[in-house]
Order: sequence, then C-alpha cells, then structure tokens
Amino acid sequence: MDAPGWLSRHHAEVPAGCEWLGPNELRVCSGLRTELRRASWRLGRWTAKAAIGAVHGLAPAEVQVIAAADGAPEAWVGDRRLPLSLTLSHRAGFAVAGISEVPGAVGCDLELVEPRSGAFVREWLSPSEQRLVAGQPQDAQALVVNLIWSAKEAAAKVRREGLRLDLRRAEVTAEGLEAEIGGWRPLAVYWEDSRGLTRGWWRTIDEWVLVIAAEPTPAIPRELVRSEPTIWRTT
Ligand SMILES: CC(C)(COP(=O)(O)OP(=O)(O)OC[C@H]1O[C@@H](n2cnc3c(N)ncnc32)[C@H](O)[C@@H]1OP(=O)(O)O)[C@@H](O)C(=O)NCCC(=O)NCCS
Repeated sequence: MDAPGWLSRHHAEVPAGCEWLGPNELRVCSGLRTELRRASWRLGRWTAKAAIGAVHGLAPAEVQVIAAADGAPEAWVGDRRLPLSLTLSHRAGFAVAGISEVPGAVGCDLELVEPRSGAFVREWLSPSEQRLVAGQPQDAQALVVNLIWSAKEAAAKVRREGLRLDLRRAEVTAEGLEAEIGGWRPLAVYWEDSRGLTRGWWRTIDEWVLVIAAEPTPAIPRELVRSEPTIWRTT
C-alpha cells in the first residue's frame, strides 16, 4: 500500500520573483485575471514544486506544473512528464500538495474550518451526513461539515473530475471525529455511481482540515521533509 507524500506551504514562503517558474507556467500565470488568483496559483505551484523537489531532488525551475485538459496538475521536466500523481489545494494563503508514485491517482483538499450555512448543508450533504453533523456538539459541527465537503472534493480530484461530478452523490464516512488528539484518521467516500469507494485520510492543521484520498487505497500519508536544500533558495 503506497503512502502518499504531502507537505504544506504558506503564502509568505513563496519567492517574490518568477525565476522559479518555467516558460509554460509563466504563460499560464500571465493569463490569470486577478492578483488574488495569481497569488493562490503561485502558492500552489511553489508547494507542488516543493513536494516534487523533496521526492525527486529537482529544483523549482527544473520542473513545470501544468494543468492537463481536465484541470488536474501534472509535472513536466522539459517535454517528459514525470511518472507521478500530483494533487494540490490552496485556501486562504495556505496550500498543500500531495504526491504518489504508484500507478493510480491522488487527490487532496484543504478547507478552513469555518461555519457553513444551513442552506449549504442541506444542498450538499446527504441525509445521513446531515445526521452525523447534527449529532456533534455545537462547537464541532463546523469541523465535520468542512471535513465532509473536503473529503468529497479530494475524492473528486482522485477521479480527475472535480465539481463536474455531482458531489451530492458521494457519501462520506469518517472515523475519529471524537478524538481529542490530532493526526491522520481514515475516511471513505462512497460514490453512488459504479465507481464504488474512494478511501483516504483526514486531519486538522491549525484552523484547516485536510483530506488526502487516493486510488488504490492509500496508507497513512507521510509528511515530506520540510527543510529545503540550498538549491531551493532562489534569492
Ligand atoms: C477541482 C476543483 C473541485 C477544486 O476547486 P477548489 O476546492 O475551489 O480549489 P482547490 O484549491 O482545493 O483545488 C484547486 C486545484 O485543484 C486542481 N484541479 C483542478 N481541476 C482538477 C481536476 N479535474 N482533477 C484534479 N485536480 C484538479 C488544480 O491543481 C487546482 O489548482 P490550480 O488551478 O491552482 O492549478 C475545481 O477547480 C473543479 O471542479 N474543477 C474542474 C471543473 C472545472 O474545470 N470547472 C470550470 C472552472 S472555471
């Protein structure tokens, strides 16, 4: 069973310049309309490149992270696509990248643990998911709603579909909701279509909830080494 690698980066860690981006990435970046979108895109690229660098020892400028036609990120060195599955998520100045080297696909999603409206819960959560939320203490409900949503999005990224799938047709079960201690806990996303189960893991990091899912079923994700070698320093 493969353990996907993961790491996180904050907005403040992204170098100010563009010398760590490749020509195709620069083209994409210059086409992004708003400063906010550029900032989150750059944060995602920096985080993905950190994950690739931790696994393959490549410097940021040596690898390009380009969206495939379906939107999923892929890693390229020149015209050679690296044989790995890559996933990324960015939210409120924080990003996570996941990486797996076994044939298959990995998907991650990051959400801020913040209150969601009753309308959101009724629209996107199944009746049994809504019961799970309602059964939690008041102060834990925001975590569980965001966890469920994050699990659906991560599993949809495993399928390389994202919101093209109807996430109301995915049902999440998660373990360890009552546990006080942090760390990874298992979850499963059951698809009502013929796809069956996508399994993954969830944890909190400060005020975020993070899900990493994969097919085939992943082992507990391993955090990639955060300390960056000299080749990573671009200034
Ligand atoms: C995948 C998706 C659910 C993520 O949305 P989100 O939760 O708001 O954002 P996150 O930060 O968690 O994830 C964004 C990343 O998911 C990745 N992603 C996008 N589409 C993906 C797909 N089909 N499969 C896997 N990963 C995908 C990208 O790397 C993207 O980051 P980037 O755009 O900076 O490269 C959403 O972008 C989506 O549904 N995309 C596919 C449908 C689509 O293309 N709609 C048109 C949008 S204009």
